[in-house]
Amino acid sequence: MVSLKEVNENNFKTVVGMKLNEEQSKYVASNVYSLAQAWLYPDEAKPYAIYNDEEIIGFMMLDWDEKKRECGIWRFMIASNRQGMGYGRKALMYALNLIKDTGKFDYVFLDYVPGNEAGKHLYESMGFIETGEIEDDEIVMKLDL
Ligand SMILES: CC(C)(COP(=O)(O)OP(=O)(O)OC[C@H]1O[C@@H](n2cnc3c(N)ncnc32)[C@H](O)[C@@H]1OP(=O)(O)O)[C@@H](O)C(=O)NCCC(=O)NCCS
Repeated sequence: MVSLKEVNENNFKTVVGMKLNEEQSKYVASNVYSLAQAWLYPDEAKPYAIYNDEEIIGFMMLDWDEKKRECGIWRFMIASNRQGMGYGRKALMYALNLIKDTGKFDYVFLDYVPGNEAGKHLYESMGFIETGEIEDDEIVMKLDL
């Protein structure tokens, strides 16, 4: 079963060690960079290891803004040797339920690098729509909860 657990002293080494292939590396910052940002922005950043049962297979960082009632999928990756097995979709579903169940958010935002067809396809199939905005050269999408 796919689940998200907060990054902690037991799982962070595996999180930092997960790899993407070179082509995909331009689509998302490295996990170590994301964890550095989580240290810089502790109120907003919620970093999670993605598990399939006991195995760590990916990483996701949420951008938690209760005041605006908006939550962002700030970072999201599945390790290259675990892609294409349905884990990305299940992890995103788990995250959306987690966000929704708090009752603290009306929207979920994310952005993707143009050309990231896997990301675009996955997000659209989960109901995200493009807002028409471009942020830091990335295409912004929104899901109304
Ligand atoms: C995007 C990502 C998280 C998807 O993870 P995954 O575990 O491979 O996804 P799944 O196996 O659940 O597949 C999800 C959907 O994407 C589709 N997909 C996968 N690779 C694809 C590709 N290259 N082009 C188009 N669709 C693709 C799958 O077919 C599936 O759709 P379907 O259910 O309609 O068949 C993963 O590819 C990844 O980590 N990419 C690199 C980092 C990244 O781009 N992160 C997102 C930043 S916005």
